[in-house]
Amino acid sequence: MTPELSINYKISPELHKALNDQMLAEFYSSYLYLAVSDSFNTYNVKGFAKFFDKQAKEEFKHGEKFLALLQRLRLKVSFRGVDPVKNNWDSIETILQQVIGHEKKISTSIHEIHELAKSGGAEVVCKLLRWFIVEQLEEETSVINLYDMYQSATKGQLGLIDMDRQLSEQSE
Ligand SMILES: [Fe+2]
Ligand SMILES: [Fe+2]
Repeated sequence: MTPELSINYKISPELHKALNDQMLAEFYSSYLYLAVSDSFNTYNVKGFAKFFDKQAKEEFKHGEKFLALLQRLRLKVSFRGVDPVKNNWDSIETILQQVIGHEKKISTSIHEIHELAKSGGAEVVCKLLRWFIVEQLEEETSVINLYDMYQSATKGQLGLIDMDRQLSEQSE
């Protein structure tokens, strides 16, 4: 028989499901950013493509963080899969807008799970989610900045080629 964990970590079935769903949402983010990177390649903005390829790897690591927590808590993990990505964007701007919307959705979801964990006294989950709350603020800021830079670049203040080159260097 496997030994039990020493204390009750207060993971309700609802919180267990929310953590598993968030793990899948992070793997979906990784998948989405691979598609975004691929589209930027077709638009021939290789710096944008490289930036999102790097993001895809970060998101995969986020998924792994949730997976590791579920495993450490000896909770059953469901690998039921991620949603398909509809990569039929018609412009760079549309892609960037979708990315911002996606990150906002993820931030909301992280906050909701944090509230759920806090109200149930699941301290170990709260600790991980506090890391994610800070991370989401950084990610939202980063994609909003990217959008603003893109707006300036296309208005001629920076130029898309220069911006793309900057992104490429920054994503090494
Ligand atoms: Fe993430
Ligand atoms: Fe993200």
